[in-house]
Amino acid sequence: MKKQKIIIDTDPGIDDAMAIHMAFADPRIEVVGLTTIFGNVNVEQATRNALFLSEQAAYPLDVAKGASKPLVQTPNEPSYYVHGDEGFGDLPAQNPKGTAHALDAADYIIETCRAHSGEISLCPVGPLTNIAIALQRDPDLVNHVKSVAIMGGAGFVPGNVTDYAEANIWNDPHAADIVFGAPWEVVMIGLDVTTQVMCYPQDYQSIADESGSIGSFINDISQFYARFYASVYEEVLCVLHDPCAIIALTDPDLFEYRYVPVRVICEGPAIGQTVPDAQLARTNAKIAIGVDVEKVKAHYLSLSKMGDACHAKRQGQGADK
Ligand code: RIB
Ligand code: CA
Repeated sequence: MKKQKIIIDTDPGIDDAMAIHMAFADPRIEVVGLTTIFGNVNVEQATRNALFLSEQAAYPLDVAKGASKPLVQTPNEPSYYVHGDEGFGDLPAQNPKGTAHALDAADYIIETCRAHSGEISLCPVGPLTNIAIALQRDPDLVNHVKSVAIMGGAGFVPGNVTDYAEANIWNDPHAADIVFGAPWEVVMIGLDVTTQVMCYPQDYQSIADESGSIGSFINDISQFYARFYASVYEEVLCVLHDPCAIIALTDPDLFEYRYVPVRVICEGPAIGQTVPDAQLARTNAKIAIGVDVEKVKAHYLSLSKMGDACHAKRQGQGADK
């Protein structure tokens, strides 16, 4: 079976780590590379964490370091209160052996997508700065990328940082407007659907019980994230924001979509709002407005329990993914 090639642009980050380990375990996916971005943590921490996740899973891949700040606006503070001081909850800073790719994230995306023209989907699950910079450096990139599945935005529901803005868009609205304005297929997996997909302590305990060190790591980092959400939902739970974007690439039929162009508010009190606007002379975005919660959650849990088995298999096969 031909694997789906993806590049995940990420600010790991607890739900990023959950999404990346899930992608590593999915036999239908080849994660070609991770490109890192500021957001949940600073870009140095994001890069270190991405290298750690690759080594933890024995999943060799390129990690290319990205932007340290937004295109235009003054940087917001990293959301350490949601993801922990080092991005993995209460865990201390990790010390991976590897180093980042020679190219920065934007050039890595351009070079890799041109080298495998039409084969690679981009899956940004952090602020969209790297993707926007890649488009600015190479507008023809749109003709070399298979598709773009974004975790970000809020089409027809309130934001999670302000009443209007979801965190990834809020952290770089100018970049997001460039990405939504480009003539390519963008799937927006936003709060309209991600806030319906929740996992609970017993779900993460089952991952730890049925997997090994990777499962225990996922369970460990979920605790900090769930405590944050307990302050939002008055219930201890984790919202599977980033895993949903990966699943939308592999299992698009688990979501329901509305096709409408999107623009991003870049100033004023509504800054970071993703506005569906049928009058816009832009390519339609595919906004997820519905989700089969049970199937998405079951898929996430099933793959997350396979992390250690996949690790052992990769160790047995050498570098083969
Ligand atoms: O709003 C949720 C998004 O912001 C997720 O990608 C999370 O990791 C943070 O980056
Ligand atoms: Ca993220």
